[in-house]
Amino acid sequence: MPIFPHIRHRRLRLNENVRRLVRENHLSVDDLIYPVFVTFGQGIRREVPSMPGVYNLSIDMLLAELKQVEELGIPGILVFGIPEEKDEVGSGAYATDGIVQQAVRAVKQAYPNMLVITDVCLCEYTSHGHCGLIKDNTVDNDLTLELIAKTALSHVEAGADMVAPSDMMDGRVAAIREKLDAAGYTHIPIMAYSAKYASAYYGPFREAADSAPQFGDRKTYQMDPANGDEAIRETRQDIEEGADIVMVKPALAFMDIIRRVKDEFNYPVCAYNVSGEYAMIKAASRLGWIDEQSIVLETLTGFKRAGADMIITYHAIEVARWLKGGR
Ligand code: PBG
Ligand code: ZN
Repeated sequence: MPIFPHIRHRRLRLNENVRRLVRENHLSVDDLIYPVFVTFGQGIRREVPSMPGVYNLSIDMLLAELKQVEELGIPGILVFGIPEEKDEVGSGAYATDGIVQQAVRAVKQAYPNMLVITDVCLCEYTSHGHCGLIKDNTVDNDLTLELIAKTALSHVEAGADMVAPSDMMDGRVAAIREKLDAAGYTHIPIMAYSAKYASAYYGPFREAADSAPQFGDRKTYQMDPANGDEAIRETRQDIEEGADIVMVKPALAFMDIIRRVKDEFNYPVCAYNVSGEYAMIKAASRLGWIDEQSIVLETLTGFKRAGADMIITYHAIEVARWLKGGR
């Protein structure tokens, strides 16, 4: 009796052509959303120290930067603003001539076909750095809702194609939906940061966006990384309130959540490959400890396998180049 196995999984790994035929998941430029940080001033292109290759850009420089995004066929961008001044109530977030509003107008004029998604939150605009209004030393949920909805509407009035609330107040999707619908913007989708965790992986972003909380932390509104069932409840509520796309953030340490959300709701799921995930890969690759391209492609393909339909990533431009066969 031969003792050889007659089922051999290695047959389907024989060579690259066989592997291509049986490959289950594919990373494509169609999956990518590129985040950008817009700042006031002119001619500014300031690299974020902990995020090599990521810049704070004034509007003129942003327009120049976006040429490659358009040429590479990346479907959309996610806009974050760094205002000139901050105050207690985050006025800059919902000002008609705020930094994001100005940037959106300029981008849509220069690139009418580019999908412009805006991050809707107050933390870059408040002097205390929290995502909502402070009352009695805590972030007040219901006072914040009106300002979040106002911010979303001001982005849409400036020309944003989609809004992405990241504040984690309860009821924000409903508040935004109502405000947009009442103003006639029933066709504008909401991408909700649904399962957004209170994560140490946001460190480099807070340097990039100058949005670190000046006291306390975000644990009273962002989710506890230890929880999974709660992500399902958060996501269910956002869908019931009218979210069109739901998000899991961060991605790498929460791939099980991406899978659970996909299986539970069968909704479009976005994974946010956050700043700390980017910084770790850049740092290790600078040290020559990892092969950057292989690691990035493997990681992003992992998000697809986990169930993500789209990925917000600072790697978007380089990935789009690699997928085209370039360096
Ligand atoms: C703002 C916001 C944050 C991120 C996206 N929107 C930071 C935070 O919640 O502190 C993080 C993005 C990243 O780390 O890349 N609410
Ligand atoms: Zn915020």
